[in-house]
Parts: sequence; structure tokens; C-alpha cells
Amino acid sequence: MVKKKKFELIPQVRIEEMVAEGKCLVRYQNLVVFVKDVAPGDVVDLQVTKKRKSYLEAKAVKFHEYSDVRVQPFCEHFGVCGGCKWQHIGYETQLFYKQKQVKDNLERIGKVATADMLPILPSDQLSYYRNKLEFTFSNNRWLTYEQIKSGAEFDRNALGFHIAQRFDKIIDVQHCYLQPSPSNEIRLAVSEYARVNNLVFFDLIRMEGFLRNLIIRTANTGELMVIVQLGREEEENRIALLNFLLEKFPQITSLHYVINTKGNETFHDLDVVCYHGAPYIHESMEGLRFRVGPKSFYQTNSTQAYELYKLTREFADLTGKENVYDLYTGAGTIANFVARQAKQVIGVEYVPSAIEDAKINSEINAITNTHFYAGDMKDVLNDELFAKHGRPDVIITDPPRAGMHPDVIKMLLEVHAPKIVYVSCNPATQARDVEMLSEKYTVTKIQPVDMFPQTHHVENIVQLIAK
Ligand SMILES: C[S@@+](CC[C@H](N)C(=O)[O-])C[C@H]1O[C@@H](n2cnc3c(N)ncnc32)[C@H](O)[C@@H]1O
Repeated sequence: MVKKKKFELIPQVRIEEMVAEGKCLVRYQNLVVFVKDVAPGDVVDLQVTKKRKSYLEAKAVKFHEYSDVRVQPFCEHFGVCGGCKWQHIGYETQLFYKQKQVKDNLERIGKVATADMLPILPSDQLSYYRNKLEFTFSNNRWLTYEQIKSGAEFDRNALGFHIAQRFDKIIDVQHCYLQPSPSNEIRLAVSEYARVNNLVFFDLIRMEGFLRNLIIRTANTGELMVIVQLGREEEENRIALLNFLLEKFPQITSLHYVINTKGNETFHDLDVVCYHGAPYIHESMEGLRFRVGPKSFYQTNSTQAYELYKLTREFADLTGKENVYDLYTGAGTIANFVARQAKQVIGVEYVPSAIEDAKINSEINAITNTHFYAGDMKDVLNDELFAKHGRPDVIITDPPRAGMHPDVIKMLLEVHAPKIVYVSCNPATQARDVEMLSEKYTVTKIQPVDMFPQTHHVENIVQLIAK
């Protein structure tokens, strides 16, 4: 057996600050040390777990002092669950570090001056703010050290979330504070039904089993979507489970199942079958209704999404005469939200069914000045599109966490719209893209928005004006 190398112990250090990905940082002998599961101000002994040339990673092995910024976490799964990693930090401190994360990234990576940056917009709801959660079934439930030590027998089936950095270990979630009712009730009922009826929970190592994943979407219109993902077809069991859901939760307005035998849980390329009700739900915002299908992206915090979109529209500064391009439009939410203040809006998005929803979202809201295209941004955003719909006066871009492809940035530089509003859920990739755009653009406004309290995630809007 190869003996694992044991690194040194760093005694009695005070944790300095919170940095990217929710980790904390302390400086030690000219090196930065990244530490998880601590708070700025804690005094701890650290066990180094990884050594690199420019940094160390360590874990706290003894606490000498707990920081004043700590609060009591409210979830029993805190510390094990991969979500809500900042529940032990007071909200004001969370906001401070989110603001700092955006500022540091823009200054260091983006080379942007941030003196006039606006203060982060807090979220009114600190729990139950999500409209969508995705739970995984597993026959390999995560047990705590105490549970294992107790010697007791535990049911190893679980329905819940992955523990941090373990694809194969799932916490059997009892109560999740992220999504409003009836999210917990549905998950618990499905879990109990499955156990009582001996349905086979998924084996994440062998990649086999019947029950694979459960998605619950609770729209702000009261409509409710449930998607049951199955690892294989067992017709009788499937029908009985779906009927059980309908009987127990008559408020479900859109019930789907998908049979997924692939190596991963994504189903954008699979047939999602509508078993009952409408094949979509609606979210509403400022008198508009948005249709959201099982494959469509919709911002997961609906209340805060409204604030985000209002700020985006404000940054776009529309007068009704502008030709607007909404890149990464999803189900066309931003495009339709700003359409009444623009001459025309062109939306581009990768997922074809989301584009179908985007078109319908214009239709049901009697919006006639939008055009939508499905495809990879780097292929669709081209001279042909600009020739067809005219050059952009304003570009709104809201890419996924990876940011924009270099070819897309190149195209943005080429077309050189007078204004770009860049919405991002990843300050690091946003700063990287802003730096590339700085060749022809100046950052004029920066506004972080907190969409995800209790996590390190932060959304940020940047306004760029052509030089
Ligand atoms: C952060 S979401 C933004 C959605 C939308 N703006 C909203 O607020 O609801 C990013 C979107 O980009 C899409 N996307 C990801 N990669 C893409 C690509 N290469 N080309 C076009 N769209 C892409 C995703 O499907 C997703 O809908």
C-alpha cells in the first residue's frame, strides 16, 4: 500500500478572508493557504492537505476561536451537503464577500477600475428562494461518521443531493430550505413510495437502476412541474409511480418522465414525455407570462430575476428605437422583457426547445418585434445575421458560467455595438471577457446582484460603452 504523504501542521492562524468558490484564505510564510469550512476571523490549527508552488490547501483540525461573523446554520445537512455552503456566515458578511469577489476579479483579471461600482443588491428572501431543484436517487446513501460508528443498520437508499465533490455519494435529504412547498413534501413522498414498493434506486457506480433523478419546478404562478428521470423502462412501476404522484399531489400541472440510459443525467438530447397536464409551466413577471418547458433554462430565483432584469434594462438605456441582440436568451426572457422598450430584439440560444418557448413567449404576450434563432452562438452570431436584422445598437449577453467563446468576443469587437450589457453568474469569466472587450470598450457601470443567498455564487451586470 502506498503511504499517503503527511504534510505539516500550521498552528494557531487567524483566517483572513473569503475568496473564490467559497474557500477562505490565510497567508503563511509567503504562501496563500486555501481552507474550506471555516469563517474569516476563526483561529485554527491547519493540516496542510496539498502543496503547490504558489499555494497550499489545508483543513482546520482544531478551532481555538470562532469568528464573530459566524451564525448558527439552520439546516441539519449543513457541512455535508454540497449546497448552501455559507449558511454559517451572517448575511451582511456574505454580501460583503460577494461584492469583493466581483471587485477583485474585475480589477485583477479585467483590469477595470471599480471605484464607482454599485453596492450589491441583496435578496429579500434568504431561504426558499429557488423555483427549481434536482434530486438524485442513489443506492449508496452517505452516512455520517457517527452513523457508521453506531453500528446500526441503515437503509442505504437515498434521494437528495450529492455531498461536496463526491459523484457517487448522496445525502438522504430530510428538509431542504431552498425551494418552497410542496418541494419537500413531493421528494419525501416519492422516496417513501419507492422504498415501500421496493423500486430500485440508481447505482451511480454501475450506472444502473430504475429511479435516477427527480426535478421539481415551482413557478411563481402556482403551476408545478415534476420530471421523473428513470434509468430504464419498467412500465408497470413507472405508471404506478406517476399515478401515485398525481393522486397525492393534484396541484401538479405538468408531469413528465424521461428514460435516460446515458452516462450522465443531462436530458436535453432525450425525449421528455408529458404524462399529465400541460407540457410546460408559466412564470410571470411585470404582467408578462413566460412559458417554461422541461428543457428550458429559467432563472432559478424568480423574485430576484425580476430585479436583475430591471437593472439589465436600465443599463441598456432603451428609448424604443434600438435594435437589441439578446445573446444566450434561454426561453427569451430578457428579450421579451425589454421588447416593448426596443424597436426590435434578436435572441440567440443553443437549445432548440428553449427557442421554441421564446417564440411562444412573444406570442402569448402579444410581442411582435422579436426574432429568435437556435444554435451555437459562435456559429449563429455572424455577418449574415447582422445583414438580415441590422447592426445592433445594444447587445445584452448572459452566457453560461464558462463565459463567451473567443470567437463570440471577436465578433462583438468586429460589430462594435455602441453598448453591451453583460450579465454573468461567474465573475472570473466575465472579467476575462471584459478584458478582451476592453480593446474597444470602457466599463461604465457595475452592479452585483445576490440571487443565491447562503452560497458563494454572485450575479453581476456590467455596462460597456464603445470607445
Ligand atoms: C445563464 S443562461 C441565460 C438565459 C437567459 N438569458 C435568462 O436569463 O433566462 C445561459 C444560456 O446560454 C445557453 N447556452 C449555453 N451555451 C451556449 C452556446 N454555445 N450558444 C448559445 N447558447 C448557449 C444555455 O442553454 C442557457 O439558456
